[in-house]
Amino acid sequence: MNFNELCEKRYSVRKFSAKKVEKEKIDLILYSSQVSPTACNKQPQKIYALCSHEALEKLQKCKTSHFGETLAFIITVDKTKCWVREYDQQSSAYVDGAIVTTNMMLAAYDIGIGSTWIMHFIPEAVRSEFSIPENEEIISILVMGYPASDSKPSTQHYDKKPLYETVVIL
Ligand SMILES: Cc1cc2nc3c(=O)[nH]c(=O)nc-3n(C[C@H](O)[C@H](O)[C@H](O)COP(=O)(O)O)c2cc1C
Repeated sequence: MNFNELCEKRYSVRKFSAKKVEKEKIDLILYSSQVSPTACNKQPQKIYALCSHEALEKLQKCKTSHFGETLAFIITVDKTKCWVREYDQQSSAYVDGAIVTTNMMLAAYDIGIGSTWIMHFIPEAVRSEFSIPENEEIISILVMGYPASDSKPSTQHYDKKPLYETVVIL
């Protein structure tokens, strides 16, 4: 599978099988976060790897959608460590965190692990359940696992705008 095929085939998996993700695969997914580009290479990310049953139980209190995930990651960025553009004080926090999340999502798919990016979480619940300090911006949650045998892409997966609507060639 070349890179564009990987990007095209990856879809949000919203039904996972009970099979646990092996430690070697978790390590590969985490490696993709480590080698992610970040503004000025500040590497402000922190990844909370929710591998235990207890941690995954806690996560259920923080969101409304439950897909039977056997693994999850909370991706945060330390706001005090991000690069900030001097002209308008724009911080790289969300961009850095989104790149880390994307790398992890694609790395997981590459080794047969499905995921869904969750933004619809309750920030204060995540912060208190996992004791995330105030200096960390909670960027995303990735729920993961082996796709259930009847998992399939939603219709949104195929609903893409034509390039002429999203690209400006100058
Ligand atoms: C920033 C972001 C936030 C998202 N938040 C959620 C979410 O909270 N719940 C959910 O089920 N899917 C969420 N998704 C998944 C999108 O709905 C999905 O990527 C989109 O519909 C395209 O479908 P596909 O991923 O299957 O190709 C999110 C995706 C992104 C990039």
